[in-house]
Amino acid sequence: MSSPHHTIRTTADFLQNWDSRNNFILADECIPFSFSFPSTEEIVNCLLEEKSTTAIIGQMRETGDRENIIERYRGKTLRDLEGQSFQFRYPDVTVLDRPGGIFVGFVEQVLDPWKQYLLDNDFEWDRCYALARVSGPNTCTGYHMDRSNVLFWNVRGRKHFHGFTDPDRWAPIERVSEKRAEQILPEEASEDDILTYDVGEDQLLWNHLLTPHWVDAPELTFGINFSHGGLRHKGRLCRYEEHVYELAGGNPNEKWHPETSSRAFETNGSAS
Ligand SMILES: [Fe+2]
Repeated sequence: MSSPHHTIRTTADFLQNWDSRNNFILADECIPFSFSFPSTEEIVNCLLEEKSTTAIIGQMRETGDRENIIERYRGKTLRDLEGQSFQFRYPDVTVLDRPGGIFVGFVEQVLDPWKQYLLDNDFEWDRCYALARVSGPNTCTGYHMDRSNVLFWNVRGRKHFHGFTDPDRWAPIERVSEKRAEQILPEEASEDDILTYDVGEDQLLWNHLLTPHWVDAPELTFGINFSHGGLRHKGRLCRYEEHVYELAGGNPNEKWHPETSSRAFETNGSAS
């Protein structure tokens, strides 16, 4: 049997697989950007000063661990956090693309080329933005599914990205409306059912919309997630999102960052 692990290196292969159900590594021709990030220490120190940064403790696989505990970390630096457990999330990288900001040049060098690549290959979308995440050593995320197709860019450190070899067995299409609290790692799942990618530095992984996953960070990591809602190729949504749109009776992304849609990108010529 061939390995379920898959690396996609050409646009033709990406167009064949963007709406399948198993995650894959995305590389080479499909990544039209690169970026020189400041040190992780600088990133953490900045994020801890930013109002919209949120934090979780990063130790609870089962609960979803959703309470924002950022106030515990305010006024601290990365050095102060040694030996502590934390995961920080910043919702919109473009805000920190400002003179003197830690992500200056990100829109021009990363987000715009990615959106242009999608447009050039007949994709449209209702929302597409980038968020940043720093995970402390020996932390994990809860088991969950996202209402987005996510391009996960592991910039620094190493992570274990877990999903299933047959996601639809564990999360059939009828369960797309489940709330986060109802999403629990099935006890009966065995090692053979789990598909784990060890994602190294500067590697990217495509995580399909509404597939169960959970991620371990054995060491300090920093990364960017590109979130896509309403992604469609030649006008066609992936099967699960089509179902979500049908259930909603329209576009559920309509009020969810419409300024980041492909239509806005085409009109304004920029992601900001
Ligand atoms: Fe996720």
